[in-house]
Amino acid sequence: MCGIFGYTGGSQAAAIVLEGLRKLEYRGYDSFGIAARGESIQVGKKQGRIPEEGFDIKNLAGTAAIGHTRWATHGIPDDKNAHPHRDCTGKIAVVHNGIIENYALLKRGLVDRGHRFSSDTDTEIIAHLLEEVYKGDLLAAVQAVLPLIDGSYAILVLAEADPRIVAARSRSPLVVGIGDEAMFAASDMTPILEYTRRMIVLEDGDVACLTPAAVEIYQKGSRVRRNEEIVRWSSEDVRKGGFRHFMLKEIFDQPAVFSDAVRALRKEELPGIIREAGMVTIVACGTSYHAALIFKYLLEEQCRVAARVELASEFRYFPPPLEGLVIGISQSGETADTLMALELARLRGCPTLAIVNVVGSSLTRIADASLLMHAGPEISVAATKSFIAELAVFFHLVDIMKQGAWAHHLDSAHRAIEEALLLDLGPAVACCSQAKDIFFVGRGAFYPVALEGALKMKEISYIHAEGYAAGEIKHGPFALLSPETPVVAVCAPGETYGVMASNIREMKARGTPLILLGEKDDRDLQEIADVFIPLPSADTVSGLLSASVILQLLAYHTADALGKDIDRPRNLAKSVTVE
Ligand code: G6P
Repeated sequence: MCGIFGYTGGSQAAAIVLEGLRKLEYRGYDSFGIAARGESIQVGKKQGRIPEEGFDIKNLAGTAAIGHTRWATHGIPDDKNAHPHRDCTGKIAVVHNGIIENYALLKRGLVDRGHRFSSDTDTEIIAHLLEEVYKGDLLAAVQAVLPLIDGSYAILVLAEADPRIVAARSRSPLVVGIGDEAMFAASDMTPILEYTRRMIVLEDGDVACLTPAAVEIYQKGSRVRRNEEIVRWSSEDVRKGGFRHFMLKEIFDQPAVFSDAVRALRKEELPGIIREAGMVTIVACGTSYHAALIFKYLLEEQCRVAARVELASEFRYFPPPLEGLVIGISQSGETADTLMALELARLRGCPTLAIVNVVGSSLTRIADASLLMHAGPEISVAATKSFIAELAVFFHLVDIMKQGAWAHHLDSAHRAIEEALLLDLGPAVACCSQAKDIFFVGRGAFYPVALEGALKMKEISYIHAEGYAAGEIKHGPFALLSPETPVVAVCAPGETYGVMASNIREMKARGTPLILLGEKDDRDLQEIADVFIPLPSADTVSGLLSASVILQLLAYHTADALGKDIDRPRNLAKSVTVE
């Protein structure tokens, strides 16, 4: 969703904010803008992505500024709807991430009272509401306006005659960074890491006042203290490090991510509720949902624990009868649907666990206990290393439940990822990049791997791709098979290998090009495949990891061959903080 960033310190603020916004662009990139406070409030904003050069910030003088990079919700992506938004006088500027649910009602009232709107956004109402109550104390004005607003928001506000940046959050993330004679506020830590690792994660209802020397935080009108955290992530982690795209860097980070995650988890105090769980319900979205489906297979097959996985967006409105532990899985810890699903489980009295990548994220605040996946910051919109880190968490939990029986797998599995990274996928990429439609199939725990492979392909290459349980292909999708429709099949050895082989032969009989992932010595598969990709190792842990990595690379190289904008796929955002 949108990214916001504010700076107040001794330097020209607009340049710092512009650089910070570049790092937040993965949250949304329809348009961007900055407001700087010099002698007056000046705003520069534009539709589209932040250009490498050519966005003139000369007029944005001042040592305090706020900025925004947008993922449109209210109003089309154009210059006028780009943030920051101002009141009628132009003396107050606001940037906002979230959605104001009662904005239509508030806007009618404001229009009736004579306010002139210059955008179609929900955000602009905040500037006009502030205009009505601002009497020279911006903190007091923000505190007066927030109770009028329903919905989710992280906002930053500047006013012409006020020396502070005022920040506030409710159901949207906001972090304050404490620098040397400088203060920062942002949707997440990535743009702040360049300057400081001292962070305060604001809580819902917090209103913060930032000056270069201090941050003051208020809750319900009273001053409160919030703990400062020193984060482990570094500014290096949020750079491309020589790779052409963040996605490729993050794919290549995965052997280390996996090993680091396992090492860190071994040190972590694991919440007892996992061991005691009789029934487990898992809620998640997108890639985390696919990881959760793998977890279900592992829990049921390996640990004999009954598990079900629910799409968080469905669960929230149609929850099944609940018992046992409810786990929310989310890289960002900020996905609105997952937050609401876990909150609902909590209200129903279930013990809850959050598995997240971001320390202090909203999901950890809802849950009774949390586990960190230790993937480091993930910038590419298409999730890769967080998926592998999620698998590391699951394998680790299985290992605990199996009293250490998987320890050797956990110690050696990073090698399977390393080998997968070295494979030549050229022929498979050539086949996929000509296709309009691709099916990805697998069975058992490899079915979610196929779902995730299809998601990666469609997200970044824009080729229509569908993941299917291999046995289901004959119940409908068979009608679509043709020499123009490749099938990518993960044929891991095991109980279902025989039926999988039959499924593949049935597809082959329709002239479908087959890209097969299988055990490296499997002659039968090699003969039938149009393109054969050897799995470096085929035990459950290594097989799941290497097949996942191969499908990530297949999507990446296909998208690259087609010249797509891999790190910023159209219409998508990394962290979806609205329903
Ligand atoms: C968005 C992202 C996906 C991600 C999903 C869930 O849709 O584009 O890559 O998988 O959100 O995100 P989460 O942070 O909850 O894992």
